[in-house]
Amino acid sequence: MDVKKFLAAGIVFAISFLAICGCGTKQAAAVDMVQVGVAYYDQSDTFLTELLGCLRAQFETMESGRLHITMSIRDAAGSQRRQDDQVKELIDSGCNVLCINLVDRANPAEIIDLAREHAIPVIFFNREPVAEDMMQWDGLYYVGADARQSGVMQGELAADAVRADNNRIDRNNDGKVQYVVLEGEPGHQDAIIRTENAVDTLKNRGIALEKLSCGIANWSRAQAQNRMMQMIGQYQNQIELVLANNDDMALGAMDAYKKLNVTESALPVFFGIDGTQAGLHAVADEELAATVYNDKEGQAAAIAKLAVALALGEGMDGIAFEKGRYVYLEYAKVTSGNVRGFLGRGD
Ligand code: BGC
Ligand code: CA
Repeated sequence: MDVKKFLAAGIVFAISFLAICGCGTKQAAAVDMVQVGVAYYDQSDTFLTELLGCLRAQFETMESGRLHITMSIRDAAGSQRRQDDQVKELIDSGCNVLCINLVDRANPAEIIDLAREHAIPVIFFNREPVAEDMMQWDGLYYVGADARQSGVMQGELAADAVRADNNRIDRNNDGKVQYVVLEGEPGHQDAIIRTENAVDTLKNRGIALEKLSCGIANWSRAQAQNRMMQMIGQYQNQIELVLANNDDMALGAMDAYKKLNVTESALPVFFGIDGTQAGLHAVADEELAATVYNDKEGQAAAIAKLAVALALGEGMDGIAFEKGRYVYLEYAKVTSGNVRGFLGRGD
């Protein structure tokens, strides 16, 4: 009996000893858990789909034995109401940082209130809230790019092309370039600013322009094809230059010409912005004259770094902010001469 008691006491002691040691080791190798909630405006958007792919890859490379990161993604399918509900749900599920691509960039109030109430920092990206809303709380950040720069670069690329190949581009030889614009969503910081800066830059570089038409195609390839079909119907072979606010719309314009079987000598030159996979391939094939790279890898890296720093409350020192809480990545020009370097980036 005594021996049994002795043995039992020994076992209890051994178990408690192991348990204490176990806890000790666990504390030494404590795992940081970062639960990221991502909400974006519409899964049909090519650029965002590619950007989120980069973001996922970034979080994966940051994971280690000591850092565990989960990412939950919600698609708002174009409804701000739905996005507000999704954010509520992400908060309830325990996210400790939010990355938000607003549906309506002028209407972040509900999300800001929810985040502030729960003290969960927010990184807005790609669709920039107005400055007034960004000032509502100091847990708000933005990662994106400067729309003006992309417009200027597109204008410079187009001006260079007109200079280099004036006879081919000014097909009716009237000394002016007849152009049309395909524009993104009204109200998006990247739509009107890109157009204005591209056109102004062409003019500043001494290119005489004649605007034939402008159509809103909401970033969409299919809508751009429709708009372009209408414009071709109206202006036939007079269009010499197509400036599109993004690659998808430039590709949609090209689709319209293909559908109508227009001969190559009657095609305008097309310019996009983004450098999506399809856009880069079109530049490599010399169908798209040039594009402007919207640095999705850089944006994803900045979002990921900031998200982890905010969730853990450390590591903010290494981040280069503008105006305290903005991170803007540089655009870059892409032509058939340097496109290979960009095509390799996603690999
Ligand atoms: C991109 C577009 C995209 C839009 C979505 C822009 O910065 O250039 O391709 O559709 O963001 O918000
Ligand atoms: Ca002309």
